[in-house]
Amino acid sequence: MEIRCSSTTAQDWTGEALVVGLFSDGASQASQDLLNARFGAALNQELERRRFKAKAGESVSFSLLGPQPGAVVLVGLGEPAAFGSEQLRQATANGIKAAAATGAGSLGIAMPLEGFAPAAAASAMAEATRLIQFSDQRFKSESEPKSTPSSVELLGLPAAALNEASAAISSTAAICSGVELARELVAAPPNVLTPTALAETAAGLARDFGLELKVLERSDCEALGMGSYLAVAQGSDLPPKFIHLTYRPAGTAERRLVLVGKGLTFDSGGYNLKTAGSQIEMMKYDMGGSAAVLGAMRAIAELKPAGVEVHMIVAACENMISGGAIHPGAIVKASNGKTIEINNTDAEGRLTLADALVYACKLEPDAVVDLATLTGACVIALGEEIAGLWSPNDGLADALRNAAEQGGENLWRMPLRASYRAGLKSGLADMKNTGPRPGGSITAALFLQDFVNGEIPWAHLDIAGTVWSDKGRGLDPAGATGFGVRTLVNWVRAGGPT
Ligand code: BES
Ligand code: MN
Ligand code: ZN
Repeated sequence: MEIRCSSTTAQDWTGEALVVGLFSDGASQASQDLLNARFGAALNQELERRRFKAKAGESVSFSLLGPQPGAVVLVGLGEPAAFGSEQLRQATANGIKAAAATGAGSLGIAMPLEGFAPAAAASAMAEATRLIQFSDQRFKSESEPKSTPSSVELLGLPAAALNEASAAISSTAAICSGVELARELVAAPPNVLTPTALAETAAGLARDFGLELKVLERSDCEALGMGSYLAVAQGSDLPPKFIHLTYRPAGTAERRLVLVGKGLTFDSGGYNLKTAGSQIEMMKYDMGGSAAVLGAMRAIAELKPAGVEVHMIVAACENMISGGAIHPGAIVKASNGKTIEINNTDAEGRLTLADALVYACKLEPDAVVDLATLTGACVIALGEEIAGLWSPNDGLADALRNAAEQGGENLWRMPLRASYRAGLKSGLADMKNTGPRPGGSITAALFLQDFVNGEIPWAHLDIAGTVWSDKGRGLDPAGATGFGVRTLVNWVRAGGPT
């Protein structure tokens, strides 16, 4: 599907299906005039008959049985005062979905773009167009018939801004490829998407985009003293893979950034086995953090931002049960020398991240950001639309929130309440891996903080609620969302501010 932009208006555009956004109040007079002029009064009468009020989320399709355009989709935009980039994205997604359902091959979409920067508008529309149409047919024996338009034209951009808008559309395509990769990785079942498969995905990116790849095997990790990560991996028949992928810019790098992703390709809970109602069958998505960082690396490798060196680290493994699995109550030692009493084997993500964060900090970066489907407590706190953000560094927290907002993803800053660390006290070891249930996502973040060099700006994103959407929402069809890619790429492209 080709997405391009033009200064052609809805009035003049020719193609198979035209999508037009309409405001719900008097401001839509101009659009009504347009519809009148192009399609005659009958269309406006029909809209009235169908009681189309142009409220946000409303849309109506007409088949005109004529050649050019053969279909019109009207999308309600609600009040103009509330119409921002999020509404533009959503309205575009609604319109494109309805227009694609008509079976049209060429779509034109006209939205009121006054007040938007042309490049930002084009990229929001291109992103919505691409992401809403994603469909994953890999595991069907026969793919379901689905109509994808071959071209989509974003109409009504100022002629003087077309070059800039086209460039924004190209960048958006790279970001969407990253989001789609993340969605595919998260959706892939645990018998297919193993730690080795994650490492192979990284190898594919290294090969296709000229990135540097290092994969540490179990013995390499042993040599580095990664007893925390390896304790999680030891119950599985599959070998762990510690994946380190690097993007180096042409010229000098002023900033070195590290993206760390939790990579549990399945989390059974271990001997603290997940019970009925804990969604054990969904725990394939416990590698959502690694999917986000791999997706971000794919986009970064294609966009080639100058001046930033970006490292991606994933300590991939499965959390399983077997005679060799770690015991609840075991004491292990992480690669920074700290000892951990594993009072709950289901708090495994933080054990893998501990060694990944120690490794990340040894690279002496300017910032480290980790993403993890870390706690059910975060899902309870923030639900499925908002990820939790923890950071001792205000600059980094703000920069990530800006990057998220720009990408249409939602982060909420949560407290790194130091006094709660007492919940992780162990009588025998330096710490336990699990605190009390109240504030469980906060103690998880505090646990991670113990493995970060305090001089290095660090942020932790708990994406447990946002990686998956049963019903679909916003630009996400039902299933894996690819959450985190857009935030990370926007932050990196801004130079990784802290
Ligand atoms: N992968 C889970 C967290 C999770 C839960 C992600 C639900 C998505 C949806 C994590 O490894 C886990 O099991 N966390 C435990 C921690 C507890 C034992 C302290 C949890 O949240 O219950
Ligand atoms: Mn777990
Ligand atoms: Zn987990």
